[in-house]
Amino acid sequence: MRRLVIDTDAGVDDAIAILLALADPSVEVLAFTTVHGNVPVAQVTQNVGRVLDAVGAGPIPIFQGAARPLVGPPVHATEVHGADGLGDAGLPATRRQAEPEPAPLALARLARAHAGELLLVALGPLTNIALALALEPELPRLLRGFVWMGGAIRAQGNTTAVAEFNAYADPEAAASVFEHAMRPLMVPWETVLSAFIPWSLWDRLVALEPVGQRVVTRITARVRRLCQETEQPGMILPDAVAMAAAVDPSCAQRKLARVEVETGGRVARGLTAVQFAGPPTLPVNAEIVTEVRTDSLTAMLRRAFTLSPEGVKT
Ligand code: RIB
Ligand code: CA
Repeated sequence: MRRLVIDTDAGVDDAIAILLALADPSVEVLAFTTVHGNVPVAQVTQNVGRVLDAVGAGPIPIFQGAARPLVGPPVHATEVHGADGLGDAGLPATRRQAEPEPAPLALARLARAHAGELLLVALGPLTNIALALALEPELPRLLRGFVWMGGAIRAQGNTTAVAEFNAYADPEAAASVFEHAMRPLMVPWETVLSAFIPWSLWDRLVALEPVGQRVVTRITARVRRLCQETEQPGMILPDAVAMAAAVDPSCAQRKLARVEVETGGRVARGLTAVQFAGPPTLPVNAEIVTEVRTDSLTAMLRRAFTLSPEGVKT
């Protein structure tokens, strides 16, 4: 049983990634840490609680983290995720509260307490991870693994022409993570785009009871409209693709690479420059997921969307 800590800026696709993890029998979600991103961090904390309530999950602790990036003001994506971050679908408010311990401290403490056991899955800007790394320089060696949905291989941006949102929302944090040996399994934007779920299949999946019909259909309605307006061939689920690669490594093709993050400039800020390993090259500091099998992702979505409260481990 692998133990996960999920760092999230929930977000609609974060919510689906969380459902995948809760439904997977091979992993246990030890804790959540929340970070600014799609919506302000306090709303992210509320959203994690709302998703856990929706599937009857147990008291998994939530640690609230950074309200803004290391440098500059926060960037949000309410135009995609709605003002509340879960598609403005009206999910009931949660009574769950964040623990008193700030997320970066909790991340460092949990990594020490479970040395060699934890898989850290980061689904948002890397501010909490960079702060935890500054507090606990041994973090890379204490973790069993580190997965990040973020960045782009060939500078195909979704927030600017060249920057993916999680990298753009805190480039300094991303740069620090790559420079200080965290060696992420990075799931970039181009890989996410190629792992879309065709509309006909998506419609069948969200019709599944109980979670598909009662939760996912509602929170994804807005994103679905956006994907269709931009003539996407199917549903794009960045964080669910990353979670699939995290919980089932066999579904992901990966390549060693050197990644550097642009923190200067105006036009290129948040660009992740990816150089695949090969002579001559700088030292490798990441693995890039270049493909995720959509049949594996579909099977995980099916299991998550038919999750019953008694099926949720915790
Ligand atoms: O670029 C997509 C990423 O940014 C996803 O993690 C989404 O939830 C937002 O955080
Ligand atoms: Ca996210």
